[in-house]
Amino acid sequence: MALIAPSILSANFLKLSDDIHMINESQADWFHLDVMDGRFVPNISFGFPVIAAIKKEARKTLDVHLMIEEPGKYAEEFKNAGADILSVHIEACSHLHRNLQQIKSLGMQAGVAINPHTPVQNMFDVLHDIDVVCMMSVNPGFGGQKFIAHTIEKIKTLKAEIVRRGLSTLIEIDGGVTLENASSIIAAGADVLVAGNTVFSTSDPSDTIAKLKGM
Ligand code: DX5
Ligand code: ZN
Repeated sequence: MALIAPSILSANFLKLSDDIHMINESQADWFHLDVMDGRFVPNISFGFPVIAAIKKEARKTLDVHLMIEEPGKYAEEFKNAGADILSVHIEACSHLHRNLQQIKSLGMQAGVAINPHTPVQNMFDVLHDIDVVCMMSVNPGFGGQKFIAHTIEKIKTLKAEIVRRGLSTLIEIDGGVTLENASSIIAAGADVLVAGNTVFSTSDPSDTIAKLKGM
């Protein structure tokens, strides 16, 4: 059974409190929060004040996905805002090992996000330091995109390495997850499913979360 992480990017920002309570009451496991800086990705989303406000109401793990340049500059502020898991993009980090140590020293779980074009092998030398791999199955920047099919092969390759080395690193799949493709994503080795559009475009988001959880 996979962990489910609804993405707040697709929530109703005018009624964010309602959506947070819905997730609190649902079978979801984490809140997935997408931070975009308009430089690493061609979009800008939200930052510290919004995360701090969500933290006050959220009763589940805050999984913060940084799509920003120079994430190390801001790691402490994200901890202060309430992040439990902090993921940085491998493509944005010249010194990834240092970034991971920094995140852990601040008392958060360390995540590495990876774009569709980047080989998973690029993170093998620090895999034992990674708590969560946030594998992008779309090009980051926007919700509601189509799942890139090749991701399935990348999940299998990464899972085999995690199992071979006896690690507890979780594989989180982010982008284009639907009720139709979720079971094949889990079968390939995913541990966590992010879902934005799939959850929030339905008339009963809580029921959709339950359906994903039941896969
Ligand atoms: C994309 C974000 C995703 C996004 C997923 O840049 O990282 O977390 O919110 O949205 P869906 O599930 O709609 O593809
Ligand atoms: Zn994300």
